Amino acid sequence: MSKRFELLNTWFEKEDVETVLSHFLKTYHGKIALSSSYGAEDQVLTDMLVKIDPMAKIFSLDTGRLPEETYALMEQTNRKYRIKVDVYHPDATEVEALYKVQGINGFRDSVENRKECCYVRKIKPLRRALEGLDVWITGLRRSQSPTRETMRLIEWDEANGLIKLNPLIEWDEKKVWDYIKENKVPYNVLHDQGYPSIGCAPCTRAICEGEDLRAGRWWWENPEHKECGLHLNRS
Ligand code: ADX
Ligand code: SF4
Repeated sequence: MSKRFELLNTWFEKEDVETVLSHFLKTYHGKIALSSSYGAEDQVLTDMLVKIDPMAKIFSLDTGRLPEETYALMEQTNRKYRIKVDVYHPDATEVEALYKVQGINGFRDSVENRKECCYVRKIKPLRRALEGLDVWITGLRRSQSPTRETMRLIEWDEANGLIKLNPLIEWDEKKVWDYIKENKVPYNVLHDQGYPSIGCAPCTRAICEGEDLRAGRWWWENPEHKECGLHLNRS
């Protein structure tokens, strides 16, 4: 990590999340957006963002395979906050080509197939969503997974050529849920059914007590493969 980012982190890590968000929203006005998967962390950030700036840009990647409960929450969130989250879809021709090569659920057959599906349905739409932005806000938390342990509040995202801001990076699960309850933030009903981490319907299952938070994501794969690629290339 460069000295500039080290200094930025040292400075902003002392501040509370709302102060960090206010600063970045003001400094990068019109060039900053939150990506929301409608998970608990993203709902916290949506609530904070709307309270700071009701016009703040929020977008979501609709892979076409999301659970019904997530679509219901999309609707509920727009209504509650009187916003319209931007939704990015995969390219139809690419989805058709993917089907021809691996079938409808080919992501179960190999890690390569799964990565290709995530690439077409998530990574490529993400690139379109990030075009022209200087800052990408995410709901990543360090304690979600061993693959996220070294992440920082402010990072340079080499793959996408912009600053990545992870305001909840140091929060634990309890803090997320305390915020949701205190602020009456709408959340995905699947969280009450044993799903701490929610992605596409066919690639997400509930977890058992004591299991890792992300154990229900691509559960048939080894833990070291369990990232879809949205958050892999960092400096
Ligand atoms: S993933 O890489 O395994 O899918 P995860 O579900 O933990 O990621 O979410 C981490 C962060 O990535 C979210 O807080 C959000 O910022 C972003 N993200 C993940 N999935 C989506 C999505 N479908 N649309 C928009 N942002 C997403
Ligand atoms: Fe495809 Fe599953 Fe990745 Fe969703 S999570 S894009 S269905 S492989």
